[in-house]
Amino acid sequence: MKTPIRIAITGAGGQIGYSLVFRIASGAMLGFDQPIQLQLFDLPSAHTILTGVQMELEDCAFPLLKGITLHDTLTTAFRDADIIILVGSRPRSKGMERKDLLEVNGAIFVEQGRAIAQVAAPHVKVLIVGNPANTNALIALSNASPLSPKQFSSMMRLDHNRSLAQIAKKINCPIEQVKRMIVWGNHSCHQWPDPSHVHINQKPLSEYFQDTQWIHDVFVPTIQQRGAAIIEARGLSSAASAANAIIHHMRDWVQGTKPDDWVSMSILSQGEYGIEPGICFGFPVICSEGEYWIVTDLVLSAEDRKQIQVSVAELISERNLIAHLLPK
Ligand code: NAD
Ligand code: LMR
Repeated sequence: MKTPIRIAITGAGGQIGYSLVFRIASGAMLGFDQPIQLQLFDLPSAHTILTGVQMELEDCAFPLLKGITLHDTLTTAFRDADIIILVGSRPRSKGMERKDLLEVNGAIFVEQGRAIAQVAAPHVKVLIVGNPANTNALIALSNASPLSPKQFSSMMRLDHNRSLAQIAKKINCPIEQVKRMIVWGNHSCHQWPDPSHVHINQKPLSEYFQDTQWIHDVFVPTIQQRGAAIIEARGLSSAASAANAIIHHMRDWVQGTKPDDWVSMSILSQGEYGIEPGICFGFPVICSEGEYWIVTDLVLSAEDRKQIQVSVAELISERNLIAHLLPK
């Protein structure tokens, strides 16, 4: 029997939390032979909800779930955690952009970064989901010294999965055949969903259709606006698809990406592709043995470079807004 992996989750009493914890406990994220221990955090005001989640987890009788603890202090929630998923924060409502949440959510990630550095396992992997996720990730990793920025990433996987689904639907192929999608930049309406490197059965997308108009007029805006469209339809932000994206993101980071494929993850830029260093940016990455690497040898069109710069400018302006939350 393998040693249990400790997974801490903040905002576990919320919408995403409720779609997430049962799937993790079933083995969907780390494998069906990997025992786990859940360390669930939420605010004291959500404690009763969290006790209900705990009861339901117990009632599922998951063989891999070796223990559940509930927390309202970060330093107990994160203690010895191997994986930390930072969901807890306010979601946007109709008419807001994700960056409008920076003021209410940004500061949360200072305290969380510090607590992670203080008590988590030294090899911890941290995924930031709470919006605006890229800049919250920058705040968390900047406050988590001496941990490496490589131990942090934020989520572009929902945008990546949305893109795979729209392409598979358009050309009517099985979704798992769509490979090498990239969503560059910010998890915002200025992200750049880039299907120009996509392969389907080893053939480029252009061999399946030449409708570039569809890419510009339908595909790109659909992906950029999908979060807002879900809020408009549900009155609440995406939860089940976000939880699923968390599972895919962490599964691939821990277990590795598929051969001949890559995934989109937001990680700290070191200047790859001429992108501003020191912002958390969506890149194509390959994961293996618990590490990730940016795919650095792609040829980008002038249009790609122009669109990527839109996200860069937005992330620099977000970074300026939270400069006071970064250590000097
Ligand atoms: P929710 O309101 O249903 O749940 C949020 C939970 O976080 C609540 O239980 C709340 O008590 C808790 N919380 C609030 N402030 C907290 C704090 N300071 N520390 C810890 N926990 C706190 O929201 P949700 O639908 O679960 O969404 C959570 C976050 O995830 C939002 O910011 C949302 O915008 C974001 N999100 C991101 C993506 C992505 O792709 N990056 C996708 C969907 C949602
Ligand atoms: C999403 O993309 O669905 C989430 O980031 C929620 C939102 O605010 O759009």
